[in-house]
Amino acid sequence: MPRGRFITIEGGEGAGKSTNADFVLQLIKDRGLDGVATREPGGTPLAEEVRSMLLAERDETVDPLTETLLIFAARAQHLAKVIEPNLQAGRWVVCERFTDSTFAYQAGGRGVERRVIERLAELVHRHCWPDLTLYLDVPVEVALPRLAGRGLDRFEREHKAFFERVRAVYVERADAVDRIVSIDASRELDTVKRDIGAALSRFIETG
Ligand code: TMP
Repeated sequence: MPRGRFITIEGGEGAGKSTNADFVLQLIKDRGLDGVATREPGGTPLAEEVRSMLLAERDETVDPLTETLLIFAARAQHLAKVIEPNLQAGRWVVCERFTDSTFAYQAGGRGVERRVIERLAELVHRHCWPDLTLYLDVPVEVALPRLAGRGLDRFEREHKAFFERVRAVYVERADAVDRIVSIDASRELDTVKRDIGAALSRFIETG
């Protein structure tokens, strides 16, 4: 049984990750491939509990290293219970967010040293990096109004400067890392989907 492929969808708040993750899974199934959708932080009952802890508004400020360790704890569980078993069973895994989010939010946003994240990634998933990452790029001033009218979580309440730092790391990684394809997600959804379809076809046909 050939191992499945691991595809992640990345982007800031309001980039359209969920809609486009559903779309990617559908494209995979349309090709007769078996696929599952999941997300981070979360994806298992325990990891979803950690997600709730991370997103909750609280009086106690959360130390950035604590936040990073909680994210990697949830990731270890998610890898062990969902990502690895599905890949080993030949299924394609479509995951909203993974370690690129940790570089963007915890290193870029919170100022955690990148080498800390590199070391944790090495410990938790040295052999399992995404095969393809679709980064949905949206300027902060376009993305933030998309959140209006929702109840905001602990991350979504951050200031514009935080989101600018998050985006800067994403843009830098999209330039530097071959598996990351940057898609301008500030455009109409149909146009974004067309580009996602093209990137996925290229990946399937060449890789
Ligand atoms: P979501 O809103 O895209 O579902 O993600 C929940 C929040 O978790 C989002 O605001 C970003 C944050 N997050 C991190 O800060 N670091 C990470 O590594 C991951 C996976 C998510």
